[in-house]
Amino acid sequence: MEEQKILGLESVALDDDNNALILLDQTLLPNEIKLLHLTTVDEVWEAIYELRVRGAPAIGIAAAYGLYLAAKKSSSDKFENFQSEFNAAKERLASSRPTAVNLFWALDRMAACLQRNRQLPLVELKASLRQEADDIKAEDTLVNKAIGEFALSLLQPGNGILTHCNAGQLATSRYGTATAPMYLGQERGYNFKVFADETRPLLQGARLTTLELSAAGIDVTLICDNMAATVMKNGWIQAVLVGCDRVAANGDTANKIGTAGVAILAHNFNIPFYVCAPSPTIDLNCPTGDDIHIELRKPEEVSEKWYTQPMAPKGVNIYNPAFDVTDNRFITAIVTEFGVIRPPYQQTLAQTLARVHPTST
Ligand code: MRU
Repeated sequence: MEEQKILGLESVALDDDNNALILLDQTLLPNEIKLLHLTTVDEVWEAIYELRVRGAPAIGIAAAYGLYLAAKKSSSDKFENFQSEFNAAKERLASSRPTAVNLFWALDRMAACLQRNRQLPLVELKASLRQEADDIKAEDTLVNKAIGEFALSLLQPGNGILTHCNAGQLATSRYGTATAPMYLGQERGYNFKVFADETRPLLQGARLTTLELSAAGIDVTLICDNMAATVMKNGWIQAVLVGCDRVAANGDTANKIGTAGVAILAHNFNIPFYVCAPSPTIDLNCPTGDDIHIELRKPEEVSEKWYTQPMAPKGVNIYNPAFDVTDNRFITAIVTEFGVIRPPYQQTLAQTLARVHPTST
């Protein structure tokens, strides 16, 4: 594996000439670089469900392109028929994963584009859907860069940073969210020392975050999830930075399973805990963390997935939630592309979004 190459590859891209969505298969990393060429809605659904593409922003971008390709393929010549095919594809893609709101946000944005342009000839309508999906992807890069700048303002040169899961370039169009300040810090000589939780059971931290950060020349150390308290107690961590899949209106935040425990530890050791959240991940329609649908995944991911032999007795009960919710009281700040938002989140999240999108809140 050429470590530099991983940063040069996009996790999600469109090959419009061949009517294909190109995905970097993240399930094979760090051992193999394989690009998938997906042409059907079912293939895109499978890639999202199996985490070949993963991370809230990347899932949204993949779904938007998947929906565009389905629409492009339609041979309907009447808007009504075209619309019902579009809606069926949208519904199918929306059923791939439940927790990251970016998936639904991106699909709804494509649907709004369809309605806005419904008077256009279908060929032009299809072009406008392509433009919308391109915009979703391009905006994500700008958003992440802005998050990186705001998050960097919370850090000091030489800081030790703990991160959980992968909220990196692979999970987005570029830069990542929680990793964006690490990349910017690297360019500016901050010499951060990053600790990456391995992130059981699917090992996004071990397989993806360490790969990305080491490719960028960042000092990164892999730890098992159960070592976080030790590195904190050793005084090696000055900040925790994580991504998120959905931020509720009161600031409760769903992210990869294990994040809530890290937040509680950080609170115990008086270490600031920062959530890096692109605004599409903030769901003001979701009142609290209790209202977030947490994905449950296959038991085999816990008992067998990475092992040559099963590591649990056959038939044992296994509980495998993919995400957990961090209580807003453990979150020091939520870093968005619009700035650093601090408690009380019930007010500050709504105020921030109302200021930047006056009509949508
Ligand atoms: O199950 P995953 O790998 O899709 O979970 C990803 C995470 O929890 C990320 O932290 C989150 O989506 C933010 S990515 C910028």
